[in-house]
Amino acid sequence: MRFFKSVLILVCLGLPFMVLCQDANADPVRKKAKTIDELAARYDVSSCKECHEEIYEQWEASAHSKSMFGIGARTAATIGTTITKGLMTWPYSGVEKPEDVTLKHLMPCAKCHLPQLEEASDDVAQEIVKAVFGLWDKEIRKESVEKLRKININCLICHQTKAITHKWAQGFPQRAAVYGTQEGGHEDEKYPIIKKSEILHESVFCGQCHGLGPNFEFEEPSQCATAYGSYLFAYVPEGGHETCQSCHMRTLNKGHVLPAYRDPDMAEAAVRFEVDAFGYYWRKDKAEGVTPLAVVRVEMTNKTGHGIPDG
Ligand code: HEC
Ligand code: HEC
Ligand code: HEC
Ligand code: HEC
Ligand code: HEC
Repeated sequence: MRFFKSVLILVCLGLPFMVLCQDANADPVRKKAKTIDELAARYDVSSCKECHEEIYEQWEASAHSKSMFGIGARTAATIGTTITKGLMTWPYSGVEKPEDVTLKHLMPCAKCHLPQLEEASDDVAQEIVKAVFGLWDKEIRKESVEKLRKININCLICHQTKAITHKWAQGFPQRAAVYGTQEGGHEDEKYPIIKKSEILHESVFCGQCHGLGPNFEFEEPSQCATAYGSYLFAYVPEGGHETCQSCHMRTLNKGHVLPAYRDPDMAEAAVRFEVDAFGYYWRKDKAEGVTPLAVVRVEMTNKTGHGIPDG
């Protein structure tokens, strides 16, 4: 074995071709997907349904499964206005008409709404733009909705792409593995390995997309979700110790639906109200006489792990 290793090291040192010596964990630079269909196929999760049926159905009901479309098309519509009211009006954006939009212009949203867009070409950015504006065109509306619904935050984004935050220490996610809470074999043909993700149960996992504040890394910073910032800087210092997963997945048994205020149980759990009210009569002055008055004292306590509403 030792002999083998030293041969391997020698081969590596001797060869300038880094390709041969690449760590098995290194993220292979993938060919850029050229169409929405190609990108969707690369992250196809239809096979997961067969064995993880309940989780799959919960996920389908979640906001994550429609992260480029939104709840009631709100996300797609806002990407549309980002183009018309933002990009097209800013003198240095390089965008005068929707046809000028490239990948770089969509990443300030896709960073969190579709992280895998990084692996796509400008053609995909254009296909997304056409689908977004297609929502207002009767003839292609249906097809546009389908396109935007096809690309989303799915099982593989969470259980592979986003399963490791510290890639220099722990390596890049392996493309043949799904990341969960254990190590071992997996029955899926395309993903035959289960690896352990150190962060799956931690808030930092969700924090990757749930925002600290402005996204300063972009030439034109965007800001959308800030729940993770609020969690870290307000909830935790006040002694809060629940994780995102415990409140959003486990405590109320919501699993992969991962709901917020759309779910009555979550809305109920959000705020503690204490109300005290009493009425009395007050003699104001001679002209107006006695007037009825009420005193209402309301105390509201935010019981969530962050400011509400967010965004
Ligand atoms: C043929 C059946 C089958 C298919 C298909 C399948 N899985 Fe699994 N998966 C399992 C079984 C069985 C386990 C082990 C469950 C256990 O031991 O808790 C598992 C475990 C997992 C785990 C680890 C759970 C943990 O607690 O560590 C993840 C994550 C996972 N699967 C994701 C997926 C994804 C994503 C897909 C689709 C790409 C998929 N699975 C497809 C059967 C399947
Ligand atoms: C830092 C990550 C991040 C970035 C960058 C980001 N978003 Fe978001 N966005 C989220 C998250 C997480 C939510 C849902 C939770 C929330 O509102 O806190 C959300 C919610 C939304 C919603 C409401 C969705 C609905 O279904 O009601 C819209 C609309 C939206 N984003 C549009 C955009 C647009 C357009 C951009 C780019 C200009 C953008 N976002 C950039 C993370 C982000
Ligand atoms: C938004 C991120 C996200 C998405 C999308 C997602 N998961 Fe998960 N999944 C998690 C987290 C976080 C946990 C751990 C939950 C906990 O801490 O209790 C988990 C747990 C699991 C588990 C193990 C525990 C269990 O509940 O049995 C399996 C299996 C699993 N997911 C499969 C899937 C499959 C299949 C899909 C797609 C249909 C999927 N997940 C989509 C984040 C996600
Ligand atoms: C890859 C990025 C990403 C990860 C990881 C992620 N989210 Fe999200 N999440 C989003 C985006 C984007 C939206 C908004 C989608 C939309 O409606 O456009 C969202 C929406 C939500 C919502 C609002 C749901 C609703 O129905 O209104 C909740 C709650 C949520 N996420 C919780 C979590 C929790 C908890 C985790 C960690 C277990 C997590 N998310 C992990 C990106 C992510
Ligand atoms: C102590 C429990 C608790 C913790 C911890 C918690 N949440 Fe929440 N969260 C809630 C409840 C309850 C709601 C529903 C609020 C409402 O009805 O307005 C909510 C709402 C949300 C929303 C919707 C906000 C909006 O107004 O659009 C998002 C997104 C969200 N949480 C994400 C997260 C993320 C990400 C984390 C971890 C960083 C987290 N939550 C931690 C309980 C919690």
